[in-house]
Formats: sequence, C-alpha cells, structure tokens
Amino acid sequence: MDKKETVKILLYDIALEHSAIVQYLYHIFLIDDGNITSEIEEIARQEMRHLKWFAQKVVQLGGQVVLDRLEDMIRIGGPDWVDMLSKDVWAEEEAIRVYSKQLDMVKEDSIKRLLERVIKDEEAHRLEFSELMERVKEGLFCTQREEKKPDQKTLEVLNKFLREEYQTIINYLYQFFHSKNCDYKDIMLDLAVESMVHMGKLGEKIGELGGMPQMDRMDFSPKPIKSLQEQVKAEILYEQETGGEYGKEMSAVDDPGIKRLFSFIEHQEEYHKQKLLEFFKLMNKLTVGDLRKKDA
Ligand SMILES: [Fe+2]
Ligand SMILES: [Fe+2]
Ligand SMILES: [Fe+2]
Ligand SMILES: [Fe+2]
Repeated sequence: MDKKETVKILLYDIALEHSAIVQYLYHIFLIDDGNITSEIEEIARQEMRHLKWFAQKVVQLGGQVVLDRLEDMIRIGGPDWVDMLSKDVWAEEEAIRVYSKQLDMVKEDSIKRLLERVIKDEEAHRLEFSELMERVKEGLFCTQREEKKPDQKTLEVLNKFLREEYQTIINYLYQFFHSKNCDYKDIMLDLAVESMVHMGKLGEKIGELGGMPQMDRMDFSPKPIKSLQEQVKAEILYEQETGGEYGKEMSAVDDPGIKRLFSFIEHQEEYHKQKLLEFFKLMNKLTVGDLRKKDA
C-alpha cells in the first residue's frame, strides 16, 4: 500500500468520525436527560480526538485534510430514545468493522497502532451505548417530553447560528491542520473548540424548545490557501460580523434564556476578534522587522 492509498483510507476515517460526531450531537440535542447526554458528550469528545489523530497522520504523510462526512453513515433516529441509542450502537459496530478491516490492510506501524487504539475505544463506546439503551428500556429515565409548540422564527434564528458555527468549526480546524505557524494553529484550535461550545449550546436550546437542529451537509471543500495575512484579516472581519449578528438578535428575542445565550456568545466572538487582531498586529510587526533585517 503506497502513501496515496494510506491517505485515502485516513480521509475515509476522518469522514467516518465526523459522521459519528454529527449523529451523536443530534442525539445530545434531542435527548433531554443530562445523565444520558453527558455520557454521549464524553463519547463525542473521544471521536473528536480520533478525528484529530487521523488528520494529523494525513498531514504527516504530506496529504491534504478534507473534513467531509458520509451521509449514509449518519442515522439520527428517534423520536424515542431507544431508537436513537440503537443507532449509536450500530455506528460503533460499523466503525469497529471498518477499522478492523483496515488493520489488515495498512503496513505502516504507527497507523496500525493508532487503529488498534481506536478500535479499543469504539468497543468501549459500543458497550456504553448498549448499556444506556438497556437502562432506557428498563424505564430508568423519564423519557416523556412535554409537547411544545415552538416559535418558528426563534428556531430559524437558532438554526442559522447553529449552521454558521458548524461551518466555522470546519474552517478553523482546516486552518489548524494545515498552517505552519504555531501561534496561529494554537489560536485556530482554541477558536474551533469555543465554536463547538457555541454550537452545543445552540443545539441544546433548539432541542429544549422542541425543535429539530439542522446540521445538514454543507460546503466541506478545502478553501484555497490565502496568505496568512489575508486569512487572518478575513477571520477578524468574520468574528466582528458574527458578534454583531448575535448582538442584533439578542435585542430582538424575548426569551430571557436565549437573550443570555446570545449575549454570552457575542462576548466570546468579540474576544475571538481581539485574539486575532493581536496576532495580526504581532505578525505585521515581525514581517516589517524581518524586512528591515534583510535590507540591512
Ligand atoms: Fe471514533
Ligand atoms: Fe466511538
Ligand atoms: Fe461562535
Ligand atoms: Fe468566534
């Protein structure tokens, strides 16, 4: 198996992990028992680590990371929780099947070790999901959700932000995997993680209101590489605009919980802008300094 084929396998694995994360997020948003969702969250976080490890291998092999997903591997299920959890068990079984097959195919030791490790994790997840499912079946949780008539306008706004955060996570992770600048990489990872928090809070709100989160397929194609300066400039602008949108919607909604949430996120977007601005200024200072040195 040559490098190109190995990269292809790893890209498939990234897409598989991405799909599992999306499926689990849906279930976190739709199930309203904190005991269950905290366990699913723990598992989703582990899938994010898997995704990161596979992506780092792609970069090491000189490949380009694509954060695509596999639509037919995302099975949302519901409305009853047993159905959702049985689909999560299925997702883990699929992952174990795929990774075990790859384990026989790949030659490189470090990738074999990674796959072995990930398979062990997925086996643990499969068990956790089936145990959760059994507990729900035994009626250990109150799965009755009161019927709500959600306000469509509010749901639309929440879903618009949810999708924006999702796209931001994809964009920032892409920069994180491919940039050569360590400071910038660090900022991108930080901002991606905070965008995940934003997305999580928005999704939970949508579920709480009795709505359906919309995390449909979007544009996952890698963006053409701009100069770092151009890139950071665009991100500063983006953070400023998003912060502004949250601020605007905050004044428009009545629900105090949603007001609080938008205000919380608005603050963080402002901080994101500040972090990027600081970096931008520092970067320009260094560039000018370097040029002067060269001139001397
Ligand atoms: Fe995984
Ligand atoms: Fe898993
Ligand atoms: Fe955000
Ligand atoms: Fe942000």
